[in-house]
Amino acid sequence: MSWRITTNITRTPEIQVTLNGDTVTAHENESIAAVLLICDQLISQINRFGQPRAPLCNMGTCYECLVQVRYPGEENYSAVRSCLTPVAAGMDIKAGREIKPNVNVKPVAGES
Ligand code: FES
Repeated sequence: MSWRITTNITRTPEIQVTLNGDTVTAHENESIAAVLLICDQLISQINRFGQPRAPLCNMGTCYECLVQVRYPGEENYSAVRSCLTPVAAGMDIKAGREIKPNVNVKPVAGES
């Protein structure tokens, strides 16, 4: 079980996102990985061997934290690293599902 620190901290405004079909509250610019943790969704993806994976490095190098996201106004889901990708209002997140090994991972802002 995880929870957010509530004392002596100023949070960004609350937003709503969808995680595996459920509407959950997040804070602007917090990482998707943080939202997964606070929602007790510890498995980010299932790899090609059927093994559950979870965020490991939390700095963008291991790719264990891949999830599928669909931004508002987009038709398709993209694979993103949840540790580097901030949530956005209305974002639809699918976690704990199989992600194909050859999937293109959407880069984060500023990454080439
Ligand atoms: S936790 Fe390693 S890339 Fe996200």
